[in-house]
Amino acid sequence: MSDRIHDLTALFTATFGAPPSHGVRAPGRVNLIGEHTDYNDGFCLPMAIQRDVLMAYRARSDTTIRVISAQQKGLEIFDVGPSGGTTIHKAVHGASRWADYIKGCAQVLREEGFRLRGVDLALTGDVPLGSGLSSSAALEVATMHALLGASGGSLSGERIARLAQRAENSYVGTNCGILDQLSSSCAVAGQAMLMDCRTLELTPAPLPGAVAVVIADTGKRRGLVDSAYNERRSQCEAGAKALGVSHLRDVSLHGLWQARQAGTIDAQTLRRCEHVVAENGRTQAAFACLRSGDAVALGALMDQSHADLRDKFEVSCPELDVMVALARRLPGCLGSRMTGAGFGGCTVSLVGIDRCAEFTRRLGEEYRAAYPTLPMAAYVTQAAAGAGAIGLG
Ligand code: GLA
Repeated sequence: MSDRIHDLTALFTATFGAPPSHGVRAPGRVNLIGEHTDYNDGFCLPMAIQRDVLMAYRARSDTTIRVISAQQKGLEIFDVGPSGGTTIHKAVHGASRWADYIKGCAQVLREEGFRLRGVDLALTGDVPLGSGLSSSAALEVATMHALLGASGGSLSGERIARLAQRAENSYVGTNCGILDQLSSSCAVAGQAMLMDCRTLELTPAPLPGAVAVVIADTGKRRGLVDSAYNERRSQCEAGAKALGVSHLRDVSLHGLWQARQAGTIDAQTLRRCEHVVAENGRTQAAFACLRSGDAVALGALMDQSHADLRDKFEVSCPELDVMVALARRLPGCLGSRMTGAGFGGCTVSLVGIDRCAEFTRRLGEEYRAAYPTLPMAAYVTQAAAGAGAIGLG
């Protein structure tokens, strides 16, 4: 990380003419199991990854925000002064959409009554964009820390996650759940976490020492993900309504069976509900596996999760299915599944530590043979810590 911090500090100083005073980082995440359950008030089992957004910043004496990104062109400038309730303008051009995550955070903090100070801010990120590893949540959570830090404010990690989610829902316009922001904000180093998306309670559990978590990027970027994601959400909400509950969290497999017998829900909605209800059960079982150190049973649950996401929730794609099938045939693989919203992006596999190097090499070779033009990448990750301040050296 020290090279990246050095480059970031240099970028800040070259852009703004003086060195930064503070630094912050927020990680991406990988979800081991518990997919499309968060907005159903259910359970997830994420961990933060060793890829993150780093920010260097310095408070200003006015209310201007200036942002430079190492990965994007141009300086973004906007004002966060007292506004009589006006909204900070969103990007007019597609190329500046990344800045909307930052503006959205400022907007939400203002709505919460914070008097924001201006800030000069440089950022760099190595969470691949659009690959299901929560690059946007990492950007939002880091921004919250920087804006609060520059203004002398502070909030709990849970509150930061909630407000970052609100920025994404109401400002950026993506109707995501809490999984990504809470993971980035509150993750614990060395641990996966059972996330109860109703209470926001996080219960850490260590990964078994003999296995590695391997993330493999299909290179297929998610297309049309927002509309399909929102459609799945609506279908879950319709299912819950038909079943007489506020969220699918409160439905049992038996309840679903009864609904099927009674013919009260259409077949597609029923399939969506079946995935969510079963996935909640699998996620709690997976947590028990972590607690007891049973990596084999955890891997089997991950396999089942992928099958339901492919067949019942229908958010997989050929590239993800091929990657998962190839992974499972390789020696040492205990389980493999798509991770994140789906329709492209990454898989996550549980692999015996002694076979890990061979696994990543062969998975790369075999996937590239199937999809030679897609920019596939695979990396092993430890469970990283959630967001926080960093020294600038
Ligand atoms: C995206 C969303 C999350 C969650 C996952 C699917 O990452 O941002 O809130 O719904 O998809 O589990």
